[in-house]
Amino acid sequence: MRVIEVEQLRKEYRSLTGRKTVAVAGLDLSVPEGGVFGFLGPNGSGKTTTIRCLLGLVRPSAGRSRVLGADSQRHLGSVISRVGAIVETPAFYPNCSGRRNLGFLASLRGISDERVDAVLERVGLGDRGRDPFRAYSLGMKQRLGLAAALLQDPDVLLLDEPANGLDPAGIVEIRELIRSLGEEGRTVFVSSHLLGEVQQMCDRVAILNHGQCIAQGTVDEVLASGGAAQLVVRVDEPERAREVLERAGIPATPEQEHLVVDLSGTDGARVSRALAEAGLYPHELSPRQVDLETVFLRLTEGDTSG
Ligand SMILES: Nc1ncnc2c1ncn2[C@@H]1O[C@H](COP(=O)(O)OP(=O)(O)OP(=O)(O)O)[C@@H](O)[C@H]1O
Ligand SMILES: [Mg+2]
Repeated sequence: MRVIEVEQLRKEYRSLTGRKTVAVAGLDLSVPEGGVFGFLGPNGSGKTTTIRCLLGLVRPSAGRSRVLGADSQRHLGSVISRVGAIVETPAFYPNCSGRRNLGFLASLRGISDERVDAVLERVGLGDRGRDPFRAYSLGMKQRLGLAAALLQDPDVLLLDEPANGLDPAGIVEIRELIRSLGEEGRTVFVSSHLLGEVQQMCDRVAILNHGQCIAQGTVDEVLASGGAAQLVVRVDEPERAREVLERAGIPATPEQEHLVVDLSGTDGARVSRALAEAGLYPHELSPRQVDLETVFLRLTEGDTSG
């Protein structure tokens, strides 16, 4: 079963002056069970709007979405107890402790205090659970939001930019936490505008641009769709090396003190052979992996609509 299915989803907003913004423009998504699915795209590409549609918080202009098989607009109630979500910064009582805040939510839903302590422990707030919420750092607030989403032990988590505003160490912590949630069989759908940052925690990704999906699949598939990796060549006479390579039919681009060869039409052995035949011996040949950020830029090259 597909945990999340989106078909031709479209959402237009209309301002009071009648101006139309197309936030989501015919989106298709298919999220299988288990693991972490990254929903990536730059600011304003429609991530939050899509998540709001999935949760039935916004009515789409066209198309539809299902979560755990239930239509988001009509039947979400039947599965909502299996879905945990964070959309935008969750609100908590500032003067109450994190533990007390979760306690309120738990008692509303008939969840035990033991579960509250377990989720606090899980998100790394075990020893700070009794501090007032207002004294939490941004990272701690984000983790408390995640704890709240985990209270009812959901099968699916929809997290809108959980790493927003965190410092690099905080991003690593949240990433590891999300990874571990995906590894225990939950399906974690996580949005981010930091394309390169999140690729390490995702099994699959969809990349959004102007409300449309421009790439979707496993991280490796999407990386491959953006073109091959590159080879960094460090050699004593870079300009002569570039000419030698060009004559051998291998285009190379100078970059700072080294050359960069696109590996789509060649391989490392051909590069070193061509250079050696001209008496040039590179002191370094290292592959450079493209990241999702580069893939995004390549796929949207020449796109001037935004
Ligand atoms: N309530 C609204 N009314 C009018 N326009 C909206 C509304 N919500 C979003 N939009 C517009 O829809 C587009 C998509 O916004 P959305 O918040 O879904 O993007 P996003 O990918 O979540 O961006 P970010 O990375 O900044 O969070 C933007 O152009 C935004 O201005
Ligand atoms: Mg957003």
